[in-house]
Amino acid sequence: MSERDVILEVEDVHKSFGGLAAVAGATFDVERSSITALIGPNGAGKTTLFHVVSGFYKPDHGAVRLDGERIDGSPTHRIVRRGLVRTFQLTKALTRMSVLDNMLVAAPAQPGERMWRVFATPGAVKRREEEVHERALELLSLVGLERLADDYAAVLSGGQRKLLEFARALMTEPSLVMLDEPMAGVNPSLGVELLEHMRELQRERGTTFLLIEHDIDVVMTVSERVVVMSSGAVIADGPPDDVRRNEAVIDAYLGSPHAHEEVHEIAGESSS
Ligand SMILES: Nc1ncnc2c1ncn2[C@@H]1O[C@H](COP(=O)(O)OP(=O)(O)O)[C@@H](O)[C@H]1O
Ligand SMILES: [Mg+2]
Repeated sequence: MSERDVILEVEDVHKSFGGLAAVAGATFDVERSSITALIGPNGAGKTTLFHVVSGFYKPDHGAVRLDGERIDGSPTHRIVRRGLVRTFQLTKALTRMSVLDNMLVAAPAQPGERMWRVFATPGAVKRREEEVHERALELLSLVGLERLADDYAAVLSGGQRKLLEFARALMTEPSLVMLDEPMAGVNPSLGVELLEHMRELQRERGTTFLLIEHDIDVVMTVSERVVVMSSGAVIADGPPDDVRRNEAVIDAYLGSPHAHEEVHEIAGESSS
C-alpha cells in the first residue's frame, strides 16, 4: 500500500452561528501536491469551513492540522506564514492602488520585519525589496497582467481581478492555496487560464490546491479528488468518477434548491 502524503487534515470540525450548525462534523484530508475540489449544494457549509481552515473562524469543536501540526484557532498571519493561504476579494482600498502595489503589499513580512529593518544594512533592505519586486513581476506575467502593472486595479475586468487575487496569494510562496469559487464571474477563456496556472504550479512547485467550485465540468477535469459536503458534513470523498456515481451525493443535490440542473451535471448527463 502506498503511503499517502497528507498536507491538510480536517477532523470533525463544527462551527455554528447561533442555533445554525453551518459545519457539523466535517472530516477529510488533502494530499500534498494535489488539486482537490470541495463541492456541495448551496449552504452546505463550504465557505464556513474555508474560514475555519484559514484561521478566520475558530471552530467550536474539532481540529485542523497542517503538516501534522494543529492550526485551528491560530491567527491568520501565523497560518499564512506556515504556508497556507486563501484568496481574498480585492477590497475597495486595494482597487485604488496599482496592480503592482497590490502585489507588493501582499508580500510576506520578513520574520521580525521591524527589528530586521532596524539592524539590516541598507544594502540588505534594498536587496530584499528588489527580490519582492521581481517576484511580483514574475507572478504578474504568469497570469498575463504584467502590462497592466502600473494601472489602477479598479480598471481590471472581473476576470482579471480574479487573476490578480490569485497572483497576490502566491506572493507568500504558499504550499497550500485555497480558492473559493475562483471561476465565478470569470469569462471562460480566463477561467481556463487560471486552471492552467494552477496545474503549472502544481507540476513545477508541487503546490497543493483546495478549491470550492460550482461548475461540475471544471471539478471533473481539474481535480484528482473530490470532497462533497452536505448540511455541514462531508458525505463523500474520492476520485471524481466515483463521487459522481455516489447515491448519497446525488440525493444531496436532489434535495437542494437547484436540484434540477445540478443533479444532471453531477451524474454527467449533458442537459444540452
Ligand atoms: N456569518 C454567518 N452568520 C450566520 N449564518 C451564517 C454565516 N455564514 C454562513 N452562515 C450560514 O451557514 C450555512 C452555510 O453557509 P456557507 O458556509 O456559506 O455555505 P456554502 O459556501 O456551502 O454555500 C448557511 O445556512 C449560511 O446561511
Ligand atoms: Mg460559499
